Amino acid sequence: MAGILGFGGYTPKQVVSNDDWAQRLDTSDEWITQRTGIKRRRFVAEDETTVDLAAAAAELAIDDAGLTASDIDEIIVATDTPEMLTPDTASFLQQQLGCREIPAFDLGGSGCAGFVLGLDIARARAHLKPKVVLIVGVEVISRMISLEDRSTAVLFGDGAGAVVVGPAPGRARLLAATAGTDGAQSHILNVRVGGTRFPFSQATIDDGSVGHLIMDGQGVFKHAVQRMSAAVEDVIGQINRTVRDIALIVPHQANVRIIDAVRRRAGLEPDQVYVNVDEYGNTGSASVPLALWEAVETGRVHSGDLVVLTAFGAGFHWAAAALQF
Ligand code: UT7
Repeated sequence: MAGILGFGGYTPKQVVSNDDWAQRLDTSDEWITQRTGIKRRRFVAEDETTVDLAAAAAELAIDDAGLTASDIDEIIVATDTPEMLTPDTASFLQQQLGCREIPAFDLGGSGCAGFVLGLDIARARAHLKPKVVLIVGVEVISRMISLEDRSTAVLFGDGAGAVVVGPAPGRARLLAATAGTDGAQSHILNVRVGGTRFPFSQATIDDGSVGHLIMDGQGVFKHAVQRMSAAVEDVIGQINRTVRDIALIVPHQANVRIIDAVRRRAGLEPDQVYVNVDEYGNTGSASVPLALWEAVETGRVHSGDLVVLTAFGAGFHWAAAALQF
């Protein structure tokens, strides 16, 4: 049985409030708060990049596990905003942390579900070999959005979350996980430039529709509610438990209205759902591990609690996991 041995998280110092956006774009604190629940988010400093955030969260998780970087046997980084197109962020992280010459790889472009999918992969790898696997969800989305597009710019923030998974129950046993993909919806949320379909060129840079993140918000909203709810039911069914047994759900933090719809579908009370989207906005792959770390740090999770993670993002990809603290 694999389990989580340690938790970590990191957000950059620079706070961007809704009023800051309202001074720059045709938007308001009222619109952003009512439609999303977001009040502020964090953006990286000019000299910070993805690996800096990943390393800060990873160091806390490794320390929390009572380990050092040399104890890590494998690294998985979930991100849609990598350090470079190639090599992957995991390579930079292996070097920055001072790990041994271990396997390290990215789950790149896996959308906001990447971390939870990574947790499932780590669960299998930790159990079979056995290994100690570091998983990081990290995004610097502030460098991927158009700062002129009010329909996306105000939604996102930068951050990182990490866990260390090992072949022992640790602090939270990984009981079950599920994941899925519907590639037919890839047009609803994507960043096109830089791949082989839209290679970097002056034409793609000039074409505002491919050079940054684009999204049909309502399309994402509808699918996110359905898929995250179904994933919770699936993972709970796998362990023969019901939603009544859940102490806390830690969902992807994109929009408080999505979170609330998932909660109502599951028949849970507001205090059974962890919410920090007001503070950080949508931090992509970082959102679930960052919220999980905060929930543990602030005493929202107790020994014996059944905690369910559920996430959804570009692809579309979705994933859920059940943890027994
Ligand atoms: O992590 C996964 C990725 N993303 C998500 O999960 C996001 C999912 N979607 C959402 O959260 C919501 O759909 C949004 C927050 C993106 C949008 O909320 P909505 O209630 O679906 O609004 P809407 O897109 O229907 O837009 C309503 C109006 C439009 O104006 P008109 O056409 O009614 O005149 C927009 O142009 O709000 C306008 N609008 C804004 N107004 C002020 C869009 N963005 C803004 C803005 N400030 N920032």
